[in-house]
Amino acid sequence: MAKDAVSLVDQRTQAAREIPIQDGAIRAMDLRQFKTGPDDFGLMTYDPAFMNTASCRSAITFIDGDKGILRYRGYPIEQLAEKCTFLEVAYLILFGELPAAPQLKDWIAEITLHTMLHETTKKFLEGFRYDAHPMGMLASTVAALSTVYPESRHVLDPTVRALQIKRLIGKMPTIAAYTYRHSLGYPYVYPDNDLSYAANFMNMLWKMMEPKYQANPTLARALDILFILHADHEQNCSTNAMRAVGSSQADPFLSTAAACAALSGPLHGGANEEVLKMLDVIGSKDRIPAYIDKVKAGEFKLMGFGHRVYKNYDPRARIIKWAADSVFEITGRNAKLDIALELERIALEDEYFVKRKLYPNVDFYSGIIYQAMGFKPEMFTVLFAIPRTVGWLAQWQEMLCDGEQKIARPRQIYTGEAARDVVPMEQRGVATTPATA
Ligand code: ACO
Repeated sequence: MAKDAVSLVDQRTQAAREIPIQDGAIRAMDLRQFKTGPDDFGLMTYDPAFMNTASCRSAITFIDGDKGILRYRGYPIEQLAEKCTFLEVAYLILFGELPAAPQLKDWIAEITLHTMLHETTKKFLEGFRYDAHPMGMLASTVAALSTVYPESRHVLDPTVRALQIKRLIGKMPTIAAYTYRHSLGYPYVYPDNDLSYAANFMNMLWKMMEPKYQANPTLARALDILFILHADHEQNCSTNAMRAVGSSQADPFLSTAAACAALSGPLHGGANEEVLKMLDVIGSKDRIPAYIDKVKAGEFKLMGFGHRVYKNYDPRARIIKWAADSVFEITGRNAKLDIALELERIALEDEYFVKRKLYPNVDFYSGIIYQAMGFKPEMFTVLFAIPRTVGWLAQWQEMLCDGEQKIARPRQIYTGEAARDVVPMEQRGVATTPATA
């Protein structure tokens, strides 16, 4: 009968060992027993960028990248986007089950209780330059909350953790909206707790002189769906940052700030902003083939295309395309959609993209909707960070409660100089290569 193990022979020593396989993986630590002698550290694995390394066991999000499947706690993303609200999905991601009506009512009330920012935090935000990037403001302000809630450092206390989780989910839209108002020089708008999570966010962004902000229900629902789609995505770059920083038992505000920093990069959450810039550069449909030629020549990447895990259509991109129609009925069609659709059509027929299994990812269409709703491209990644905070926190909590986890500390393969002695200054030659440290 087949055995769940792999037999390895170390050709250096002829030592043969059987390494157990569990869940399709072997434990890297099992390789340590392959040694050339008592002083040998033992065999390691080398996996830059974690291309083939599972860093944790997780029960939160399932992705089948080849089939284009995404599920939170077992529920298909398509059903959650159609049938649930964002806060319902947040509850599911954090607690493992969808809430019953009274649980959801309490959960909404608890999050709503934490939407206000301390006035000193508001003043902190006022200190940024008028043209500061909203993601820089968001990451810094989230980090600053660590000073407002010093008890948050007791990360092993479940009650303390639960409170910070609610605070972060409640306050992210408030900080995000303030970064937006700040860049426009508008006064900040306080949360309106009568409104839904998405509608309150819209209130804090766009309320002017009217006594009560009325969010367009179609746009609020579209935003809510976009929040659902972005809520978690297993071990992506920013979640890995959250887990890595959190593994040192840093408090959740500082860990979330680190995750925001990771998200801001153009290869990750920053891609949605880059897609819009790219569509502006392309300008018209007739210029797409020339642009694609440059991508294929390696001059730059097609932003919003490709994914480490999805080698098929990103299911979130499909839902976003569908949500776009409802938004455009209210806002009018974003002219960039035609360029994006044509770009997708041409790319999906081109051998370069087909061979590499490069499909549109979540960021390809999200920016087009956000822009139609009135957001500036600089805000797009902030809009991603609001819902992803739920995923970061669920993953952070799972990591802290996982008895197998320790401080994240990878190994390296040292490629530098062998031991050498410091030469007195007067005897040193001028270095021929510039320092790259
Ligand atoms: N445009 C053109 N070529 C691409 C693209 C792209 N967008 N993405 C990957 N490729 C090419 C690579 O050059 C490489 O080609 P090669 O085999 O000839 O060298 C091949 O496809 C494999 O790509 P990798 O870079 O090895 O894939 P990796 O998994 O490391 O990167 C990533 C994934 C970062 C998402 C990449 O596809 C990319 O940079 N895309 C553009 C940025 C983007 O949209 N990021 C958002 C991702 S979704 C998210 O984070 C929310």
